[in-house]
Amino acid sequence: MALLIAGNWKMHGLSDQLGQIRDIGKCVRALAGRNNILLCIPSTLISRGVTAADGEIAIGGENCDAEFSGPFTGDVSAEMLKDAGAKTVIVGHSERRKRHKETNEMVATKAVAARRALLGAIICIGETQEERAAGAALQVCDEQLAASLPGDRQFWAGSAIAYEPLWAIGTGRTPTREEIVEVHQHIRMRLIALLGDAENSLPVLYGGSITATNAREILELPDVGGVLVGGASLKARDFNAIIREADMIG
Ligand code: PGA
Repeated sequence: MALLIAGNWKMHGLSDQLGQIRDIGKCVRALAGRNNILLCIPSTLISRGVTAADGEIAIGGENCDAEFSGPFTGDVSAEMLKDAGAKTVIVGHSERRKRHKETNEMVATKAVAARRALLGAIICIGETQEERAAGAALQVCDEQLAASLPGDRQFWAGSAIAYEPLWAIGTGRTPTREEIVEVHQHIRMRLIALLGDAENSLPVLYGGSITATNAREILELPDVGGVLVGGASLKARDFNAIIREADMIG
């Protein structure tokens, strides 16, 4: 099955970084593999990012508003991202949940807005260090999953879940293989139970301190459908190394 290798530039990226996107596109063209490569970048770069990607990789946004349009100064709708050339948008990243007080319900509404604009939605969930230490990781992920997914199943198609333990983001620390498998299996079982259909279940990505060194080992674990990469997606050299590792998985 094709894996989704997604980058997340966060609040990084000016015009002079467009060359990184061109270099990622060149690597993907040369590999001609079957995995799907996506780079989620700041809204200001999307349309130029699409040009730089030259059709070799998909470009996505990092957040969208829940509303279609309206008097919401400074906010960006899913339709605007789509219009700029985005194919997908991340919703409910933990940095937004924390800094912008986004609740599960808001995340679900944003996922609906994304799907209405015909964008893929990557819905992020994950526990804190304290929650894991208290043995509540699965329960927290369960609650976030159930409440962050759109209530109406028609909006699920085209979505993916990203499991990103907060303590692994930008820290260089990752869960053990067993911990990743446990959470991913759990999420998959919950998705199947909620959907009542294993065939159309959503891919579950892992995110948090992915590098070329650990990417392959994590991508080979059961129920890991891809990765969401922050820091290591900023430089073509690092992201291309991850793309090549993923390409070697049979
Ligand atoms: P990181 O970020 O790869 O830098 O840990 C991942 C993310 O926040 O999506």
